[in-house]
Amino acid sequence: MSTANTLSEKKETIRSFFDSIASRYDRINQVLSWNLDDRWRKRAVKLVFSGQERSILDLGIGTGKFIQLFSIRKSWDRLVGLDFSLNMLFEARKELSSKVLLVSADFHDIPLQAQSFDLVISSYTLRSVQDLPGFAREIHRLLNPGGKAALLCLTRPVHPIWRILAYPYLKFFLPLMGGALSGHQDAYHFLSESILTFQEPEKTVALLKQEGFRDAKIYRFTFGLATLIVAYK
Ligand SMILES: C[S@@+](CC[C@H](N)C(=O)[O-])C[C@H]1O[C@@H](n2cnc3c(N)ncnc32)[C@H](O)[C@@H]1O
Repeated sequence: MSTANTLSEKKETIRSFFDSIASRYDRINQVLSWNLDDRWRKRAVKLVFSGQERSILDLGIGTGKFIQLFSIRKSWDRLVGLDFSLNMLFEARKELSSKVLLVSADFHDIPLQAQSFDLVISSYTLRSVQDLPGFAREIHRLLNPGGKAALLCLTRPVHPIWRILAYPYLKFFLPLMGGALSGHQDAYHFLSESILTFQEPEKTVALLKQEGFRDAKIYRFTFGLATLIVAYK
């Protein structure tokens, strides 16, 4: 089987998973993260939002929670959210004001004009990305000069003690509970494995710099269970 086929099959598996859990997605996340997912989004907004940005794009918008927090901060010229799961977009449409334009597309190949956003955000999506350098290039292409990318991701704690303590939760509890709540055991095994094995934020920062970003910063939340990467074009 060709690599292209395998990649598109992987994407299709991810898309149909999100389609099937869209209406329960927020509830499942709240339970699995003890509501920390929302707190991390809020902390990220505080660190990223400067008030100067006029246009914002959310990649893998899901139900719209991340862009929603930015949208209420000011009156934006342009707000766009993108996702390839139609059911997620349907949930987002219910939550967001009509000012937010929703686009159905694959975030590896974004049908939007170069240099058209001051801020590109993405929360909890990096582990679904099949081509990280390509994804970084797309974000860089879409940003205006001086623009900012904010990537919020689930990660492993940094300190060895916290890493050891978090391991049973990530390895056993997460797939078990996630599987039971969603009915998709495999998908939550994928989530668990991808958090346990995903590259360290420093490597993602190095990759962003390779793809043209001039600088990037790492902010760790709750012992490193979540990480915000802010990269500057
Ligand atoms: C873990 S959810 C995160 C949703 C939201 N950002 C949040 O904060 O909850 C990942 C989202 O990325 C979307 N996604 C995954 N792969 C994608 C792709 N290749 N193109 C577009 N959207 C994708 C999924 O449909 C899903 O809505």
